[in-house]
Amino acid sequence: MLCLRLFLAVILAAATTHADPVTVPLTKNLFHEFINTQYAGSVDIGSQSFLLVFDTSSPNVIIPSQQCIGGSCSCVSTDKYVGSKRGNGRPITVNYFDCSSATGNIITETLTIVSLNSSNQGIILADQIDMAICTLAASGVVGLAPPPAKHSSGLETVMANFADQDSIPNVFSVHHARYPDGEHFGELILGGSDTTYISGNFTSVPLADDSSWKFKLDQVLIGETNVADDNTLGFVDTSKAIIMGPDSQIDQINNEIGCTSRRIGDNNLCELSCDDTDNLPEFAFIISGKTFNISAEYYVQRNGDICYSGFMPNGQDYYMIGDFFIDNYYSEFNWDEK
Ligand SMILES: *[C@@H]1O[C@H](CO)[C@@H](O)[C@H](O)[C@H]1NC(C)=O
Ligand SMILES: *[C@@H]1O[C@H](CO)[C@@H](O)[C@H](O)[C@H]1NC(C)=O
Ligand SMILES: *[C@@H]1O[C@H](CO)[C@@H](O)[C@H](O)[C@H]1NC(C)=O
Repeated sequence: MLCLRLFLAVILAAATTHADPVTVPLTKNLFHEFINTQYAGSVDIGSQSFLLVFDTSSPNVIIPSQQCIGGSCSCVSTDKYVGSKRGNGRPITVNYFDCSSATGNIITETLTIVSLNSSNQGIILADQIDMAICTLAASGVVGLAPPPAKHSSGLETVMANFADQDSIPNVFSVHHARYPDGEHFGELILGGSDTTYISGNFTSVPLADDSSWKFKLDQVLIGETNVADDNTLGFVDTSKAIIMGPDSQIDQINNEIGCTSRRIGDNNLCELSCDDTDNLPEFAFIISGKTFNISAEYYVQRNGDICYSGFMPNGQDYYMIGDFFIDNYYSEFNWDEK
């Protein structure tokens, strides 16, 4: 499997001795199998275990409060926080999955993932959470966006706290098994990478700036056609099942694969014939001069007899590069790289 390493292009101070990386098994939501996204894992907060989605697009930890009703909190799979911590009564609203939001109070709790502890982790105890989380059969979110101070909540990220308190490098990586072998659906590795998933070398990609995981996409190819311009950015987004991107570029891609402007519901999905997918052109990102190709087998999304394009407009000027890319390319997010 080819690999992508995203790193901050600055030299940081020499690190102390690091603890070993920690492997977090990722679950698969069978109810929504066709969505094929599986970036949730077990996280302990206080004395409670939650299934939370690991989200590279947002920085905060969000869990539902007892008072949370409606939205994601109306889903049967939602666990609500039963601990004793309460916020200060001044609710804040934060985003997750790029465009969804949650409103709640900040509490501090001990957060544990496998053997890593973050004591006094700032957490949004949410009284209101948009619907997006429970479609992934999880209760909340652990944000894995980079740790700059710009985040509106002002809270340290879990990764920054783990790096500080557990002496792991501020590095994580995601492996995803599209066709699982037994129980194994995928892994999040905190503090490094699992080299057994890597064939060949990582391609190192500098970040566009330090506020997100976005990097430059040299080209976005569908067949021979490059739809990108000189300033096209994207990031590997573990909250997305598909690839989302700038409207006009995505329209061009969908035209090239014979997907008309037909939309399904308000989901903005483009329906395709399932008959002819063998003849569709290959899709590719060119990143740091390397080709990361994806065949129609992956970018066509199937739900029984219905096929959708895996490319969807997002109204932004950058790509959110989701699941079926990560299926094929092991990605490491390296805040420490020297
Ligand atoms: C994390 O905390 C738990 C319980 O408090 C403890 O058993 C465990 O050893 C801690 N792990 C680390 C890495 O400090
Ligand atoms: C990986 O990098 C090493 C050292 O630069 C090089 O010798 C090797 O050929 C590279 N392997 C591949 C598969 O590109
Ligand atoms: C990329 O292209 C190579 C060569 O054509 C092919 O073997 C490989 O399966 C492609 N990868 C994906 C993810 O489609």
